Amino acid sequence: MKRTHTCGELGKNNAGQQVELAGWVHHIRNFGGVLFIVLRDRYGKTQITFRPENDELFQQTNTLHNQDVIGITGTVVMRPADARNPEMKTGDIEIVVEKMEIFSHSEVPPFPIENEITATEETRLRYRYLDLRRPPMQRNIYIRHRAMQATREFLNGEKFWEIEPPYLVRNTPEGARDFLVPSRNFKGRFFALPQSPQIYKQTFMVAGFDRYYYLVKCFRDEDLRADRQPEFTQIDLEMSFVEPNDVMSLAERLTAHIFLQTKGYVLNTPLLRMPYDEAMLVYGSDKPDLRIPQKIYDISDISKNCGFGVFEKTIANSGVVRVLAMLGGAEFSRRKIDELTKLAQEWGAKGLATAKYTENGFESGISKFFTDSFKESLRDKLGDELVPGSMLFFGADTSEIVAKVLGRMRTMLADELGLVDKSSHSALWIVNFPLFEKNEDLPAGITPAHHPFTAPFENDIPMLDTTPLSVRANAYDLVLDGYEVAGGSIRIHNPELQRKIFQLIGIGPKDAENKFGFLLEAFKYGVPPHGGIAFGFDRLVMILTDSDSIRDVIAYPKTTAAQSLMDGAPSVVDKVQLEELGLKIIKKDER
Ligand code: AMO
Ligand code: AMP
Repeated sequence: MKRTHTCGELGKNNAGQQVELAGWVHHIRNFGGVLFIVLRDRYGKTQITFRPENDELFQQTNTLHNQDVIGITGTVVMRPADARNPEMKTGDIEIVVEKMEIFSHSEVPPFPIENEITATEETRLRYRYLDLRRPPMQRNIYIRHRAMQATREFLNGEKFWEIEPPYLVRNTPEGARDFLVPSRNFKGRFFALPQSPQIYKQTFMVAGFDRYYYLVKCFRDEDLRADRQPEFTQIDLEMSFVEPNDVMSLAERLTAHIFLQTKGYVLNTPLLRMPYDEAMLVYGSDKPDLRIPQKIYDISDISKNCGFGVFEKTIANSGVVRVLAMLGGAEFSRRKIDELTKLAQEWGAKGLATAKYTENGFESGISKFFTDSFKESLRDKLGDELVPGSMLFFGADTSEIVAKVLGRMRTMLADELGLVDKSSHSALWIVNFPLFEKNEDLPAGITPAHHPFTAPFENDIPMLDTTPLSVRANAYDLVLDGYEVAGGSIRIHNPELQRKIFQLIGIGPKDAENKFGFLLEAFKYGVPPHGGIAFGFDRLVMILTDSDSIRDVIAYPKTTAAQSLMDGAPSVVDKVQLEELGLKIIKKDER
């Protein structure tokens, strides 16, 4: 070993000991002829000093720069009382260096290795190993590691087996676009990288494995956002002979275990379970952040003769009228309201009616149209939430559009107005999802809301033939701080019902055989009732570390254009490789 201790552990109890340390030069300071260097490694920082008496050693330090890697031998001494640093874990002591070895020199890095930097994200990703050297990133990666180990500890304790599903799989439609891998042995054929191991974990249940989990990479070629990467990690699990309650209970205990182990935060379980319809009505979203106190109120029943034509007409046409009161919004300027209105229109609304509520009651905006009795009813509806200083935002349209627009306004404005209590976490289940959603672009007109293996509510099965959009799914999503962090369901284990669902979403018998034949075949040989869930692990770690993007908790993430700037992937490959695979690149102008 080139060191006896790390840079984060020495203290007054070690005074007088001879030690060896190794690490990066973090900071160099010459003070009255004595050279002070802060040495840094994964564990912390320690001050080492070079005294001019040792001339040969002192000369050696002339070539040192920040980020050089050195090893030293020296003696731990107490710092003079006025030089102690209570902010630093090792701040009581310093090491008087007797010997130094320079392992390697560093060029001037493209950005300083400090907690706060101004470098662009592009530069940070290009030199990601340097970005990862910074303490906040080291902390994120450490918390990710802790969360992974906590997951394994917990699931192993619950009798789960960690089993690896394959990564080179058959191309099966699952919502997003697949990443394809050409086969050399079978030219013209392709493997796909799994969007999730969904079908494979279900066949594990047929194999009798009973309780499976894996910290699995998933690959989806879709448009990227702050909470979406083309390559991401799931805590994937599946269980046999279970009811929804078993899976949800296990998943929330796992979540609580991870919170406790990584940040000492107590997540009280069991978690609230909210029906999908309620979430959409009251929060305008299927992933509500309950740390925001403001709710959306349906005022359709009192809007019929409210005095404002737009609302009255909407009700006459069977639409809905809803209102959201945002505390602090009364300060918004005319211009700000115009911007918000434009945004609402981009989201599909026809407009965004507003009214202020102040000490003087309803003011400005559309309030001049309101009848007295409507104002009175509004006060009754909103109750305690109608606080002077609020801005009321009204939506009048179909319930889908109003939910979307007011739901987005709620989260966006709560953030701007500082209404979110960021010291706590909001965790809840959304249940009773619809099995299908409308999609007019598809020939069948409907598509699975989750995936086609999700079981419908037993009682709703007769409605599959009559009103499929009213059928509810045996599915559940775990929502944390306004993010969907996990989703799962009880699966269909009856091949006939599975075929029927395929049929309804426009996958005929031949197509089903071609795409999912191996699953339907496996189901012929004794399949247990089963269900499971998958966590978006990166999203979970993003929340655990208070990060704004999952890129901050992934060692080597892709840019929003799905490139890896550090290694330059994707890259051009040579002709021989293409020929071996039987592939030919068609240039743009040949197309
Ligand atoms: P689903 O598609 O809902 O379900 O994915 C599960 C969870 O994975 C996370 N997630 C993502 N995270 C980062 N980048 C992405 N592109 C991305 N896409 C999804 C989300 C989501 O809740 N096989 C089913 C699970 C099951 O039914 O058991 C599945 O993959 O947090
Ligand atoms: P108008 O009567 O069209 O001038 O609109 C008056 C106010 O109502 C403006 O602030 C519009 O943005 C708003 N508004 C119009 N239509 C709707 C609607 N469907 N929902 C909510 N607000 C609307």
